[in-house]
Amino acid sequence: MALPQKKYYRQRAHSNPIADHCFDYPAHPDEYNWSNLYPALHGNSEVEFLDVGCGYGGLLVTLSPMYPKQLMLGLEIRVKVSDYVNDRIQALRVQHPEMYQNIAVLRTNAMKYLPNFFHKGQLQKMFFLYPDPHFKKAKHKWRIINKWLLSEYAYILAEQGIVYTITDVKDLHEWMVVHFEEHPLFERLSKGELESDPIIEKLYESTEEGQKVTRNNGDKYVAVFRRISDKWKD
Ligand SMILES: C[S@@+](CC[C@H](N)C(=O)[O-])C[C@H]1O[C@@H](n2cnc3c(N)ncnc32)[C@H](O)[C@@H]1O
Repeated sequence: MALPQKKYYRQRAHSNPIADHCFDYPAHPDEYNWSNLYPALHGNSEVEFLDVGCGYGGLLVTLSPMYPKQLMLGLEIRVKVSDYVNDRIQALRVQHPEMYQNIAVLRTNAMKYLPNFFHKGQLQKMFFLYPDPHFKKAKHKWRIINKWLLSEYAYILAEQGIVYTITDVKDLHEWMVVHFEEHPLFERLSKGELESDPIIEKLYESTEEGQKVTRNNGDKYVAVFRRISDKWKD
């Protein structure tokens, strides 16, 4: 089974995340049939890593063999792009039996339905790699990092869970840092803490967008945050 070719799955770059597309979504995470996405896996494992706006899926494919025990899911709003990721994963599973069983993609709007898919405190890691910058001020409300959505991300993340962000747009980087730092349930990781994390180096080039930024000699800004405890501290 050959890997899919991107040229057959092109779609315009932006899909309005506020418009009402028709998406099926469960009323509750337990109502979703997860074994459709991870058919080779038995047992009660739950998704722990979430790649939000996964694009063509490069991060999932890179992390899958690094963390074979963790279930990972990419969320992608564009139908052809999510079809590509699905076909890519199916082909990889055929080419490498026993591998890539822990990754899957779901077409949905990550700005709308996350609590329908994930329990409180379920996720260990969330990734926002090269999110759409929505440059114009009037479109800032479309940005996937904003103070309302951060509360939703804090809800589905486990305490001590990690959020990874990277972008080539300095203004968006600063926007993300300010929003996370102002939020009471997140704190930024120090440079020292980043050095010991093997995922950090994968943020730069494992995705298709990261490779494009490299080809264009763009800058890359990384910021990583921890979901801190919401227990009252004296
Ligand atoms: C610039 S691309 C980056 C893709 C990927 N992370 C990478 O680094 O190659 C942003 C992606 O996020 C997707 N996206 C934007 N808004 C979304 C939303 N609300 N829900 C799910 N995906 C979304 C877009 O369709 C696009 O594929």
